[in-house]
Amino acid sequence: MTENPPLLNGALDVERLILADVGAVAREAARRFVSLAREAVQARGRFGVALSGGSTPADLYRLLAQSPYHEQVPWQGVHVFWGDERCVPPDDPDSNYRLACDTLLGHVPIPVENVHRLVGESEPAAAARAYQLVLQDFYCGPQPRFDLVLLGLGRDGHTAALFPGSPALDAREQLVVPAQAEYDGRPACRLTLTLPAINAARCVLFLVTGSDKASVVADVLHHRRQLLPAQYVIPTAGEVTWLLDQAAAAELSTG
Ligand code: 6PG
Repeated sequence: MTENPPLLNGALDVERLILADVGAVAREAARRFVSLAREAVQARGRFGVALSGGSTPADLYRLLAQSPYHEQVPWQGVHVFWGDERCVPPDDPDSNYRLACDTLLGHVPIPVENVHRLVGESEPAAAARAYQLVLQDFYCGPQPRFDLVLLGLGRDGHTAALFPGSPALDAREQLVVPAQAEYDGRPACRLTLTLPAINAARCVLFLVTGSDKASVVADVLHHRRQLLPAQYVIPTAGEVTWLLDQAAAAELSTG
């Protein structure tokens, strides 16, 4: 990794919203998802969103599959991608694709051709190259510009499958790369969007909840530690917002 990310007035200069609890975070995220989807479809005829994995976004996905959000999203214009995937088959319990299907995609009228799966079960380097072509084809050029990228945060400061010290963090030409990391007993072999692919987005939304994330949230946002991958998510021409519950924000200073 090169120099540290820009540090403005002593903290990462990003929007952060502290909400009461996990449910409030999911509702705010759903509200934003609906708003961004409607705006994108209205303005550009489609909404490209990269979903995150792990456990945190499940509440959001379930909410989007329910009324009133279900009726508010222009599903015919929604195109779903993944920010990262584990190198497992789509029906594997550890698959981020399966998580999204079980909680959201299997319950909404999104056209099957609008679901762009990261093929985790393929050879990783080939799968990464293939997904890069999917992205470039969809965005008709070398640089995808997602309308929304959803991200989580690991206790070690990783996001997507960009882990501390990983060579994936240095990727500048590739949009998708393989990655290896041990975390929480999850599959070590991953595929991930790179920082250039994420930072080209119009909007990035971190969803972080729970007291076990309080320390790393302050490490990231107050730069108590350096070289944490989530610190490098700074869209070049877009916005990044952190949606936190009070438990995850417990170590943030109010200043
Ligand atoms: C994954 C995710 C990963 C996740 C964090 C937080 O595939 O596991 O993309 O980046 O967002 O590890 O996971 P939790 O939401 O389960 O805490």
